[in-house]
Amino acid sequence: MIFLMDLQMMVLDLIYFILRNSVRLVLRPRTKPVDGELVLITGAGGGLGRLFAQEFTKHGAEVVLWDLNSSSNEQTAKLVREMGGTAYTYAVDVTKREDVYRNAEQVQKDLGRHVTILVNNAGVVAGRRMLDCPDELMERTMKVNCHALFWTVKAFLPQMIAQKHGHIVTIASVLGLFSTACVEDYCASKFAAVGFHESLAHELVAEEIEGVKTTLVCPYIVDTGMFEGCKIRGEVELLLPPLKPQYCVEQAMNAILIDQPLVCIPRLTYLPVLFRALLPWESNVVAYRFMGSDKCMYPFIDYMQNQAKNNPIKVE
Ligand SMILES: NC(=O)c1ccc[n+]([C@@H]2O[C@H](COP(=O)([O-])OP(=O)(O)OC[C@H]3O[C@@H](n4cnc5c(N)ncnc54)[C@H](O)[C@@H]3O)[C@@H](O)[C@H]2O)c1
Ligand SMILES: *[C@@H]1O[C@H](CO)[C@@H](O)[C@H](O)[C@H]1NC(C)=O
Repeated sequence: MIFLMDLQMMVLDLIYFILRNSVRLVLRPRTKPVDGELVLITGAGGGLGRLFAQEFTKHGAEVVLWDLNSSSNEQTAKLVREMGGTAYTYAVDVTKREDVYRNAEQVQKDLGRHVTILVNNAGVVAGRRMLDCPDELMERTMKVNCHALFWTVKAFLPQMIAQKHGHIVTIASVLGLFSTACVEDYCASKFAAVGFHESLAHELVAEEIEGVKTTLVCPYIVDTGMFEGCKIRGEVELLLPPLKPQYCVEQAMNAILIDQPLVCIPRLTYLPVLFRALLPWESNVVAYRFMGSDKCMYPFIDYMQNQAKNNPIKVE
């Protein structure tokens, strides 16, 4: 009897959420205010990280900027301050867990308050054929795109739970939901990031932790230079052009500010996710071949290999 009642409740809830989310496609729910929040952004010196800093500033939040590269990080802070915002910069290598923990404490000490929104945005890609790729470069991708999520979440989640207030944002990629050739390190790390994020999201719900929200952001190729040269078939590219960084970040912000758990940008990329789950592997292969997404990374790899010849990436 209880089983049947639970079943009925579950089905009703399930339908409720499908309907609610369909309505939300047209009628956007009210966004939550973030003025007064303290937002920590990793990789804040880069394309998307910088724009996230600016968007959160527009919404009245204060930002803590973490990046390996202090000069580009300072540049972001300068832009934030020019907008009348408040930015605090820290040179942090998010792959070094001691660095992460130490700087997390330092932030707390310097500002005397807790980070309430964590945006895990720092990301790298090797950009080599796996068999030509130095091992360290593949390891670096895992450490930045996946391991760093462990350390930052361990550093900032406890306070969010204690205060019953917080938001964990993971910038993954559509390449964390489906893959393509020649980006093995990146796909491995982004699938890992998706798995980590989703498990954490489930945990917060299962443990009935109140007030701590999560958003997983999965963008398609964004025009920041990270995947310079990457190209799909021309006709298909008209339908699915590389995203403008500003558009990508605005869409992500919309999702964050309504506490949406997952967003793929653009929406069209939900299709390959669906196809991957529903169709035979070979059907996906022929669709990839038709769209030119099977070899879309080839020109990117060529570009990166040339770059590497001119100035090799140093990994200690
Ligand atoms: N550009 C795209 O096409 C695209 C698509 C989907 C997802 N993403 C993801 O979006 C995020 C931002 O990408 P982007 O295009 O702005 O990249 P970007 O290369 O412009 O910026 C990344 C930033 O991260 C910093 N960083 C790298 N390693 C670090 C480390 N160990 N510690 C601290 N900071 C470090 C870099 O200094 C840089 O400022 C990444 O996670 C990326 O994987 C990008
Ligand atoms: C750091 O950023 C600056 C400015 O964006 C850039 O010119 C420089 O090459 C970057 N340094 C490293 C080590 O990536």
